[in-house]
Amino acid sequence: MPLVFPGKRRKHDAKRVAVTPGQEERIMDFSGKVGIVTGGANGIGAAMARGFVARGGKIVIVDRDTAAGEALAASLGAAALFRAADVTKAADVAAYVKAAQDRFGAIDCFHNNAGIEGRVARLAEYEEAVFDQIMAVNVKGVFLGLRHVLPVMIAAGRGAVVNTASIAGLVGSPGMAAYSASKHAVNGLTKSVAGEVGPHGIRVNAVCPGPIATRMIEEVSRQVSPNNPKSVEERYTAGIPLRRYGTAEEVANLVLFLLSDLASNMTGGEYTVDGGRTASPAGVSGSTTQ
Ligand SMILES: NC(=O)c1ccc[n+]([C@@H]2O[C@H](COP(=O)([O-])OP(=O)(O)OC[C@H]3O[C@@H](n4cnc5c(N)ncnc54)[C@H](O)[C@@H]3O)[C@@H](O)[C@H]2O)c1
Repeated sequence: MPLVFPGKRRKHDAKRVAVTPGQEERIMDFSGKVGIVTGGANGIGAAMARGFVARGGKIVIVDRDTAAGEALAASLGAAALFRAADVTKAADVAAYVKAAQDRFGAIDCFHNNAGIEGRVARLAEYEEAVFDQIMAVNVKGVFLGLRHVLPVMIAAGRGAVVNTASIAGLVGSPGMAAYSASKHAVNGLTKSVAGEVGPHGIRVNAVCPGPIATRMIEEVSRQVSPNNPKSVEERYTAGIPLRRYGTAEEVANLVLFLLSDLASNMTGGEYTVDGGRTASPAGVSGSTTQ
């Protein structure tokens, strides 16, 4: 029995999706779709770019890391365009939005992902300049991306956005208060904007990764324990039910699902991909199991 979503079709309604077993791959197909990913040169963003192109889409990779961005785009061929940009600068953001339209003619999917970790330090000792830097990239950068991409999607009457937040945007993160505050802000932007653009047929969700094996977690571990960063991973994973860090590809899988038609009724959500860390943190025994 196919699952058919009922309802009167209006101009901006998501197209009806009938899902039968085996059809999922076709629906995860991004053929004819154009995406943008910020922070797309490395880590989670790069995994998203590879996954999007592997499923038929065309991608604009945005990053301030020109060397890595150009190398990734070259490896993906004509379906990828690299655009150097600092997401904190409105002119750069306007330019990457225009580049996507000029090269590929549309913006269907947007992964608003660039972020930085800042310092690991207690708030009582935190440097004001680092706080400002985190807010500029993680909050203003996400705001500017939405500010410039959404008008294009509204004009088209369709689109899907995924903002990269963090589990630090759902619960506190002692030692990383500025980062945690910035990711709570990303979730606030996500939920508020979802309410604004839903009537235009545009979905906006957030992914909340736990520790993921990229440069970022390596840098955080190095700051926590410069002489033995590996010990941080051992301690941290002991509090994760699946007992390991996630991979960039595992986060990209969730992002791609949320950008696809399979998620056609999902908007305004915050979705964890954290090996169970938030649902079941370490108990009094120091373990997730007694
Ligand atoms: N790795 C983790 O454990 C983890 C956990 C939760 C959330 N996240 C979030 O995932 C996202 C991606 O992080 P990652 O783990 O892939 O780290 P990463 O450092 O590998 O990738 C981040 C990318 O963003 C780019 N970037 C940073 N500032 C920028 C700016 N101002 N303008 C343009 N590009 C900029 C970097 O050059 C880099 O390519 C971030 O928002 C991060 O906060 C990561």
